[in-house]
Amino acid sequence: MVKLTGLKNIKTAVFISGTGSNLKNLIKFSKIKKSPISIDLIVTNNFKANGLKFSNQFKIKKHISNFKNSKIAEIKILDLLKKENIKFICLAGFMKILSRGFIKKFNGKIVNIHPSLLPKYKGLNTNIKAIRNKDKVAGCTVHFVTAKLDSGKIILQKEVKISEKDTPASLAKKVLRQEHKLYPAAIKKIFN
Ligand code: GRF
Repeated sequence: MVKLTGLKNIKTAVFISGTGSNLKNLIKFSKIKKSPISIDLIVTNNFKANGLKFSNQFKIKKHISNFKNSKIAEIKILDLLKKENIKFICLAGFMKILSRGFIKKFNGKIVNIHPSLLPKYKGLNTNIKAIRNKDKVAGCTVHFVTAKLDSGKIILQKEVKISEKDTPASLAKKVLRQEHKLYPAAIKKIFN
C-alpha cells in the first residue's frame, strides 16, 4: 500500500455515471481548507450523466468515455490521468467495472462509495434487498477498490435505520444523505 498520509491538494478524478450528487458534495468538500484533495477531472461512461453539469458549474475538466470497447476506454482514461497528473480516484456511482490492470496502475488509490453495509449486499439494488429481507438497518460504505467487486478494505461505514414505512426509494434517499457525510470523512481519514 502506498503511503498517503500528510499530503495536500492531491489531484483527484471523480468517476460518475448518473446524478452526481456525491460528485457535487466532493467538489464542495474539496474547496474547504481542511480538504486534502482537489478535484481536477470528472470521468464518465455516460454522455447523458446529469452530474456532467458540475463540470461547467465548477470549471472542472471532463472526459466522456465510450465503454463499448472498455480496453480502449481505459487506455484513453489512463493517458489522461497521467497527463493531468491525477493521483487519486473517487468512484461515485460509476457503473462500469474497472479492469484488474487499470486498478493495478492506481493500486490503493481508488476508493468507492457503496450503498450498503459491506460485505452485505455487494453489487446492485442494495436498498431493495434490504427492504425485501426486512432488515432493521441499511447503510453505506467507503472502501478501497480492488479487482474483486465491492470487496476492498473498508475505510468507513455508516448505519441507517430502516423504518416500517420505508420503501426502497425512501431508504435510498436516507442512505444517500449519509453518503454525503461519509465520503468526505473517509477521505479525511485516509490522508490525515
Ligand atoms: C450512490 O448511492 C452510490 O452509493 C452508488 O450510486 C449512487 C450514486 O449517486 N454507488 P450519485 O450519482 O452520487 O447521486
